[in-house]
Amino acid sequence: MIDLTNERPADAAAIEALLDQAFGTTRLAKSSYSYRKRVARIWPLCLVARDAGEIVGTIRYWPIAVGPAAAPALLLGPVAVRADYRSAGVGGMLMRTSLARAAAAGHHLVVLVGDRPYYGRFGFKPAADWGIAMERENPARVLALPLGVASLEGAAASAIPAGTVQRWRSPRRASARILAA
Ligand SMILES: CC(C)(COP(=O)(O)OP(=O)(O)OC[C@H]1O[C@@H](n2cnc3c(N)ncnc32)[C@H](O)[C@@H]1OP(=O)(O)O)[C@@H](O)C(=O)NCCC(=O)NCCS
Repeated sequence: MIDLTNERPADAAAIEALLDQAFGTTRLAKSSYSYRKRVARIWPLCLVARDAGEIVGTIRYWPIAVGPAAAPALLLGPVAVRADYRSAGVGGMLMRTSLARAAAAGHHLVVLVGDRPYYGRFGFKPAADWGIAMERENPARVLALPLGVASLEGAAASAIPAGTVQRWRSPRRASARILAA
C-alpha cells in the first residue's frame, strides 16, 4: 500500500537518488533549478510516497514571486515516481493531495515547467494565458494553476498576478540588502 507523508530532512538522500534516476544528474543545470537555490522549500506541501517505508515518489514546492509587485506564488517541482511504480496513480495522488493542501493553506497560484499533456489533467494551462512568463523557458512548457478564490470563474484579474517569475527573496534578506546599501 502506498502512503503519502510529509517529506522530512532525513529523506533528502533517497529523494535525490530518485530524482537522479528520473531526470538524470544534469537536471541541476536546468534554469528552473535557479529558483530553488538558497531558497527554503515549502515543507508542508512537500510530500513523499512510500511503499513499505521505501520512497517511491516525491513532489516539492518552492516560493517564487511574480510580476512587478513580487506577488507570492508557488513553483511546483520536481515531481517524480520511481520507474517501477509509474502509471499506477502515484503521481496523480501526489499532485492532487499537495494541490488541495496548497489551496487550503490559502495559496493563490502554482507555476511549473513541464508537459501540458500530463499537467493539463490537474487543470494547468499555459501561464501565458494570464500574462505570466519565465525567462529562459519555452512558454509552451510554463504552466499555471490558480487556486482558491483566484480559480473561480470571474475572479478579479488582480487575484492572478501577471509578469515575469522571479526568485523568491525573503523579507529578511531584502532588508539585509537595504541595510547594507
Ligand atoms: C510524470 C510522473 C511523475 C507521473 O507519475 P505516475 O505515477 O506515473 O502518474 P499517474 O499514474 O498518476 O499517471 C500516469 C499517466 O500519466 C501519463 N504521463 C506520464 N508522463 C507524461 C508526460 N510527460 N506527458 C503526458 N502524459 C504523461 C502516463 O502515460 C499515464 O497515462 P495513462 O493514465 O493514460 O496510463 C512519472 O511518469 C515520472 O516520474 N516521470 C519522470 C519524471 C518526470 O517526467 N516528471 C514530470 C516532469 S517535472
